[in-house]
Amino acid sequence: MNYTDTALTDIPLIREVIFYEETDSTNARAKDLIRAGAEGGTLVAADMQTAGRGRLGRSFSSPSGEGIYMSLILKPELSPDRFSMLTILAAMAIARAFEALYDLKADIKWPNDILVNNKKTVGILTEGVLPDHVIIGIGINVNNREFPDSLVNAGSLLLETGQPQDRGTLLYTVLSGFSELYARFLSSQDLSFITEEYNRRLIHMDKEIFVIPFDRTMDSADPYALSTEGLSPVLCRGIEKSGALMVEDTAGHISFLNSGEVSVRFL
Ligand code: BTN
Repeated sequence: MNYTDTALTDIPLIREVIFYEETDSTNARAKDLIRAGAEGGTLVAADMQTAGRGRLGRSFSSPSGEGIYMSLILKPELSPDRFSMLTILAAMAIARAFEALYDLKADIKWPNDILVNNKKTVGILTEGVLPDHVIIGIGINVNNREFPDSLVNAGSLLLETGQPQDRGTLLYTVLSGFSELYARFLSSQDLSFITEEYNRRLIHMDKEIFVIPFDRTMDSADPYALSTEGLSPVLCRGIEKSGALMVEDTAGHISFLNSGEVSVRFL
């Protein structure tokens, strides 16, 4: 079903929408489109993905008719070392949409997951295609009733609100919100205008978390099942204006985590 039939090109950021009933991964399609000369503002969406991809090489379950699977191609006036800040903007737009449409509290797990009632409901995969393009890939579990056994912590809007939700309305609301945040971000070039709200939405704000080094993040297909053995907890102090996560150790020493290097797990 084509859930992109809402007036998406009315949104300032969206120039063109390409919809697939079925594809391997909308991020992969977006990469091909960039190589073929696609402009910023092209949105690729699918009803199902046969090889949906997550962060750190994981897969993203993408059954037909249930979720939103989309990739937005952007060509921002932004140096590539700032591309990961776009994940923060996307998470914020989605959290706001959940609240506005369903009155749901959406908690952000830095950097790229959104949880509702502690269940992962959204994943974001931002990929730079150098030198100047970036793809924001977003997967939202909307009307899923069940998940593969390997996903210990997945949830959907249907399961959390108790009723099926309209994918078109949600897609439109997320993209309009993102478009506004993006315009503001391009003029400020940092995240200072949303850090306070973002940190309020952070599920692990001021709580103890474990910082799991990159080499250990491959130990499990599900990051929520990673072992924290041998690691000491640190306190999460929220993001700063670059999107880096500030953590405080027991001696009160603050360090800054970049999303490409670590995963975090809260207690
Ligand atoms: C994660 O949970 O680690 C990120 C998941 C991102 C999934 C989306 S679905 C649309 C886009 N296409 C993909 O193959 N992945 C992203």
